[in-house]
Amino acid sequence: MENSDIKDINLAEGGHRKIDWAEREMPVLRTILERFKKERPLKGLRVSACLHVTTETANLMHTLQEGGADVVLTASNPLSTQDDVAAALVSYYEIPVYAIKGEDNATYYKHIGIALDHKPHITMDDGADLVSTIHKDRRELLDEVVGGTEETTTGIIRLRAMAADKALEFPVMAVNDAMTKHLFDNRYGTGQSTVDGIIRATNILLAGKSVVVAGYGWCGRGFANRVRGMGAIVIVTEVEPLVALEAVMDGFSVMPMADAVKVGDIFVTLTGDINVIDKHHFEGMKDGAIVANSGHFNVEINIPALEEMAKEKRLVRPYVDQYEMPDGRNIHILGEGRLINLASAEGHPASVMDMSFANQALAAEYLVQNAADLSKNVHSIPEEIDREIARIKLDAMGVQIDTLTKEQVKYLNSWEEGT
Ligand code: ADE
Repeated sequence: MENSDIKDINLAEGGHRKIDWAEREMPVLRTILERFKKERPLKGLRVSACLHVTTETANLMHTLQEGGADVVLTASNPLSTQDDVAAALVSYYEIPVYAIKGEDNATYYKHIGIALDHKPHITMDDGADLVSTIHKDRRELLDEVVGGTEETTTGIIRLRAMAADKALEFPVMAVNDAMTKHLFDNRYGTGQSTVDGIIRATNILLAGKSVVVAGYGWCGRGFANRVRGMGAIVIVTEVEPLVALEAVMDGFSVMPMADAVKVGDIFVTLTGDINVIDKHHFEGMKDGAIVANSGHFNVEINIPALEEMAKEKRLVRPYVDQYEMPDGRNIHILGEGRLINLASAEGHPASVMDMSFANQALAAEYLVQNAADLSKNVHSIPEEIDREIARIKLDAMGVQIDTLTKEQVKYLNSWEEGT
């Protein structure tokens, strides 16, 4: 296919096998695909998606395509693309893809521009780059956009800031905020895949290491719990008193980053904010410290400051840059400070992406059906969609649950009865 920019079309066969493998773990999305095939709710709709190009995303693209959408895909991070999956999407599904693992920033934004040339009715974002580019540089596209969907916490923060400024020109569905998304994807997905990324990049033993987790949101707490399960001594840094209190009562040590740097062996940022690990933190770190980011953007670690401080930089393993400081200490940055779970590993496993992407598919359908009534704001996924996804997932897992009796329903709706 000419209208694609991928690494190598010859990788397609392997990518296709991996997409099928992931599909086995995505029963909710499969159920939606089967319905979409019959009902074609997205017929004639142009969708531009800016998502991590993974096996799971491929299954989402296929679902949208079966629903009648005309889809194009661009990467949502320069380092997260699985090149074999990109090739399979082009070769087996005839979906145009603009994504090459390791592309530079200029290529990344060029690809976003091409995906927008598709003149989307719906934007599907992971980090809000499509929405922000349309509003900044491609306003001529606004007329045809019906709405957007957003996958991440970081993207939602950006979009809410736009809405607060009255700058947002179309409705966006906050996929991230669905319970069946963040309670599972952010927590169990980021938890496991961040451990996976660190291990694949470094092959270090986590047991007995002091691991500093910056941020105790859903991603941070997922990672903190998983890495504790592997025998690490876990320290949490936080800025929100309530959240910090939760971390303390969950059994973690909580302290400022300035103190944590003195004891930490491994540092992982999962905050969504900038320079969480900054110049003065690098100054206090132990020799050999390993620093990684698992938040959406590569701004959480101040790498430019480290570049200036360091005497020398060398790549000691794939995804491991060693910075030698003037005092002889070495500090290691994993995956250039880009989200480590997708840079050196494969992102969240399919089983959690199943629910996240079920939300994406159903949010697109919801937008088509309801856009006329939706204000130019960030909107929650309706509770019925959330519960339906949970119900199908439980079914697929072979888990049955109880239902309330009439008496229990009545009791819950009354206030007279006490002891
Ligand atoms: N974000 C985190 N993990 C992912 C995956 N496997 N696919 C797409 N987006 C992701």
